[in-house]
Amino acid sequence: MVIKKKTIKKTARKMRMKGIILAGGTGSRLWPLTDQTSKQMLPVGRVPMIFHPLNVLVKAGIKDILIITSPQHSGNFVNMLEPLLRPYGISIFSSVQQIPAGLPEAFTIGAPFIGGDNVTMILGDNIFEDVDSIATAIKKFRKGGCIFAKEVPDPERFGVATVNSKGVVTNIVEKPLKPESNLAITGAYIYDNHVIKVAQDLTPSDRGEFEIVDLHNHYLQKGTLQLHKINGEWLDAGTIESWHEANVLAIEKGFVEKFDPILLEALEKGFRRNKAIGKAQLQAYQGIE
Ligand code: G1P
Repeated sequence: MVIKKKTIKKTARKMRMKGIILAGGTGSRLWPLTDQTSKQMLPVGRVPMIFHPLNVLVKAGIKDILIITSPQHSGNFVNMLEPLLRPYGISIFSSVQQIPAGLPEAFTIGAPFIGGDNVTMILGDNIFEDVDSIATAIKKFRKGGCIFAKEVPDPERFGVATVNSKGVVTNIVEKPLKPESNLAITGAYIYDNHVIKVAQDLTPSDRGEFEIVDLHNHYLQKGTLQLHKINGEWLDAGTIESWHEANVLAIEKGFVEKFDPILLEALEKGFRRNKAIGKAQLQAYQGIE
């Protein structure tokens, strides 16, 4: 009798995409608004700011989302978002950034959460109108790095990318005094799993921080950095002026009304639940009277 050798077929595990929202920092430029709450809890439109980057991740179909906060606000975001999103199979986790030491820390703090998967990181104060382009890029992403850029009148405030006539990135500089282009790098980043190791190996810059441009440059040198230009408005709502502008835009352009149906339904249910609680409390109070 011939015994056939069993062939073991190795099936590679499909990489999933995890999501991180970096919502740390002191919000000092918005003090005293941020004295008792975090910047990312301030309203933009009729929801706290964090719902806007969250919407990008939800639209991209991401099911595991880590929110990195400063120590005094840990717990607040999970308490607010977890009950809203759990019914839709979206899990919200939280980690603390003790002292902000640069954006790449999101990938070292987030390493246990990311595990063996790819990751999209969005800054908690970045408000995008062109959510769909970013969500589509997240869904299509396979490997390397991917950044999103927008033409702005004041590129010196941001990371700046130069692209050649074929749209390939040739250079990236953080807040250059004399920008080579007006293409600002926004606060939405997609990286493959190697980012954890690259972030762990970074050395601090002259200003003593780990720099996100060093991550971009790693992928640029490897020839695996993609850049997508986005349309519509983009704001980093970290100053009083840009926060006001974000509110005006969110209301005028109906950013919240265009949220992913999951988020809209979750918000609607939340509203109804809170209204019901209010009514019950009122009735109980009236009963005592
Ligand atoms: C950070 C990044 C910068 C990017 C900007 C987008 O700057 O370092 O490359 O253009 O976010 O919001 P920060 O806002 O932390 O000064």
